[in-house]
Amino acid sequence: MCGIVGYVGKHNPKDVLLAGLKALEYRGYDSAGIALKNEDETQIIKSVGKIKNLEEKIDCSSLIESNIGIAHTRWATHGAPTENNAHPHHVGKVTLVHNGIIENASEIKERLLKEGVKFNSDTDTEVACGLINYYYDGDEVKAIENAIDELTGSYAFGIMFEGNNNLYAVRKGSPLIVGISDNENYIASDITAIINYTNKYMLLEEGEIAVISDSEVKLFKDGKEINKEVLTADIKAEDKDKQGYEHYMLKEIMEEPILLENTLKTFLDDMSLVPDLGDYEEIHVVACGSAMYAGMIGKALLEEKAGIRVICEVASEYRYKKIIYDRKTLVILVSQSGETADTIAAMRKAKENGIDTLAIVNVKTSTIARETDKQIFIEAGPEIAVATTKAYILQVAIFGLLAYKASHSENIISEIKKLPRYVKEILDDRDRYLNLAKEIYKNNDVFFIGRKVDYAICMEGSLKLKEVSYLHSEAYQAGELKHGTISLIEDGTPVFGIITDDDIRDKTISNIEEVKSRGAKVIIVSNKLVSGYDRQIIVPKISEFFQAILIVPCLQLIAYEVAKLRGCDIDKPKNLAKSVTVE
Ligand code: F6R
Repeated sequence: MCGIVGYVGKHNPKDVLLAGLKALEYRGYDSAGIALKNEDETQIIKSVGKIKNLEEKIDCSSLIESNIGIAHTRWATHGAPTENNAHPHHVGKVTLVHNGIIENASEIKERLLKEGVKFNSDTDTEVACGLINYYYDGDEVKAIENAIDELTGSYAFGIMFEGNNNLYAVRKGSPLIVGISDNENYIASDITAIINYTNKYMLLEEGEIAVISDSEVKLFKDGKEINKEVLTADIKAEDKDKQGYEHYMLKEIMEEPILLENTLKTFLDDMSLVPDLGDYEEIHVVACGSAMYAGMIGKALLEEKAGIRVICEVASEYRYKKIIYDRKTLVILVSQSGETADTIAAMRKAKENGIDTLAIVNVKTSTIARETDKQIFIEAGPEIAVATTKAYILQVAIFGLLAYKASHSENIISEIKKLPRYVKEILDDRDRYLNLAKEIYKNNDVFFIGRKVDYAICMEGSLKLKEVSYLHSEAYQAGELKHGTISLIEDGTPVFGIITDDDIRDKTISNIEEVKSRGAKVIIVSNKLVSGYDRQIIVPKISEFFQAILIVPCLQLIAYEVAKLRGCDIDKPKNLAKSVTVE
């Protein structure tokens, strides 16, 4: 988390840096800051909260003449989200922005304090800045090399030194790119920050140090200069617009039909592009958050339909757990960003054990896309809203295809082709979700219950609602609620009953009766009419491999409408960040 952008060129960097920060705000928005530099001085302006606070402060400041600067938007890890702890940090001759966590910051700080270095914040970043300054004797690259030799943890650093007009960048574990243009160069956490200025960039690999002036970029690794390919990003500036929608979340939900059509088409035209999982005795699906819930749907389908043994595990657990690799195993890593720290660690653990890895990933240049053995790209385009919607739907679609192929079921391709149209019809019925949202947005708690694959759907429905609307919600296996949690059901508590699985329909309905008889307001979301309850959302019935794709968009829109009624910052919910690059 945290976003970094830097500029060196012919102009004052303020506008580029602010535009970059706005594009990166999805990576964290606890505080923000910029540093501008010229031969005589460095000017740092910081502010707590969103970028607009920083912008207001900058507008009221008189800025120094400058053509080099770095900027940062923060998701707090070490140190509260105060102005003092905001980046950029400045120690001696070094000014620095950081994305990541320095794990051995306290010991280094103790040592530097003894050397007389003064610190003004509680951050690990200021320690890294102090360490580079400690080693700086006129050779910038050497100072960075010496410092990173000592640092443990993860980092992407953008660095400026007093006395020269270059930008410096280095990374380990956190993403960083170098943007290239004529007489202007950039650094950024990702290309979206600078896409309005250039689509040419280099991917900085771990341990490489970039020395960037307005006219050239030099890269060093282990003290030697190296060459690097210049890549062209295929995203367009307009991909980042809301295109008339009030929020990115809504725009991205509304993109689901066309994206499903495009992504599925490639595979339906040539099913040999869908990897065959039949060769494996065990599949591990590893991911975080919504990507994990997409994986839970994958597990249900692969087990039930294809008879493949699947373990689905949260990446932050998987990376530290004892995993018994005693069968021919494939580890599937699911990630929109491809930069989630825990998922990367899980991927590396599998690789260290000689296990095959497959990524279901959106960002093609990401670490997970680059380091896995095989990749399936979901082709969602940039997802800007912090809460994932379209990427999740495409991840579930890919699992549907994997399970369909592995199950050797009868040909349902013509049925699958109906999916985008059905999703569009479901999304077009927006009033239905708004009306329902009006009925529940003032409640304190909401529950989602279902069994098997429907429970996996509940997990995503519940997460979406709570993360964007701050309305407390829980997902439960329908049969499990009565073992304690049912005591929370009161008169009028909304309970969503998700029922798509015919085999278990009657059992789920019995559990729904249990909450109804305790006063719950029951909202059925199903592919078949179930009468006798307060509200019904009925979607078309489609092959079980893809049924979840018709249910979740309803839940996404309900979450969106509830969040809007509750006046929440829908695209940037509090305490969250889009790309979780710390563990
Ligand atoms: C929730 C959400 C998160 C992500 C999770 C994994 O709406 O977006 O739960 O799904 O942080 O992120 P990726 O997919 O980038 O690995």
